[in-house]
Amino acid sequence: MPVAVVTGANRGLGFEMVRQLLQRDFTVHATYRTSPGHLSTLGDERLHLHQVDVRDGQAIDEMMDAVSAPIDLLINNAGIADGRWPSVEVIDFEVARTVLEVNALAPVRVTQAALPLLVEGGGTVVMITSLMGSIGDCMSGKSYAYRASKTALNMFTVAMKNELRERGVSVLLIHPGWVETDMGGPNAPIQAEESVNGIMDRIQEQTLKLTGRFVDYAGLALPW
Ligand SMILES: NC(=O)c1ccc[n+]([C@@H]2O[C@H](COP(=O)([O-])OP(=O)(O)OC[C@H]3O[C@@H](n4cnc5c(N)ncnc54)[C@H](OP(=O)(O)O)[C@@H]3O)[C@@H](O)[C@H]2O)c1
Repeated sequence: MPVAVVTGANRGLGFEMVRQLLQRDFTVHATYRTSPGHLSTLGDERLHLHQVDVRDGQAIDEMMDAVSAPIDLLINNAGIADGRWPSVEVIDFEVARTVLEVNALAPVRVTQAALPLLVEGGGTVVMITSLMGSIGDCMSGKSYAYRASKTALNMFTVAMKNELRERGVSVLLIHPGWVETDMGGPNAPIQAEESVNGIMDRIQEQTLKLTGRFVDYAGLALPW
């Protein structure tokens, strides 16, 4: 039975990923930060819960020790929005630093900790990024820290792809679409189920040849 690790899984897209991975016969290690939320209602013996703040290196290491099994799929999903500041003058640098830490550095840290466990010749690392991290697509500006965090995540991922390829591990940068979650808000046109269905299809079709691609949930290639 394949093994998956999903961060930030107590709500939103992460929760839906756990639900669909269990349907697809994965053993799932799901993380939550403060409360397991809906995860505790799933009642599946293949689901293992870990309390992890993705900024906490020790908690990440302890989770990997507990997982101990080879990991087929790592999904770095946990993420936060920024302050939606209306202008450069009011950027809050403490908040901006946290956004960069959670969205850009933490997925790299989790991947680093998972490396010894990732299945050689078949493992996949998925980074849940955003079209908002695309420099080519940045017309409206604003969302400074969120955009910069996802751009940095994209570059961290592309920069590590050759090393991971040597281990037979592929990386996938995926934009879930604008999805109705706490982050996406009530006006988002896509439901989590549809987005995650697409994400699962992209994961299934992923090969080493496709490593480092930046696509949306429907498979559309996105500009860097
Ligand atoms: N929704 C969209 O339209 C959209 C579009 C593009 C990209 N994305 C990306 O998709 C991913 C999931 O977003 P979502 O829409 O599902 O957001 P969400 O509903 O706000 O859920 C975010 C998840 O991340 C967790 N998280 C936040 N900070 C954390 C930390 N320091 N340590 C551990 N977990 C943490 C949250 O845990 P708590 O409950 O403890 O806060 C929650 O489980 C994010 O990376 C986001 O940037 C979303």
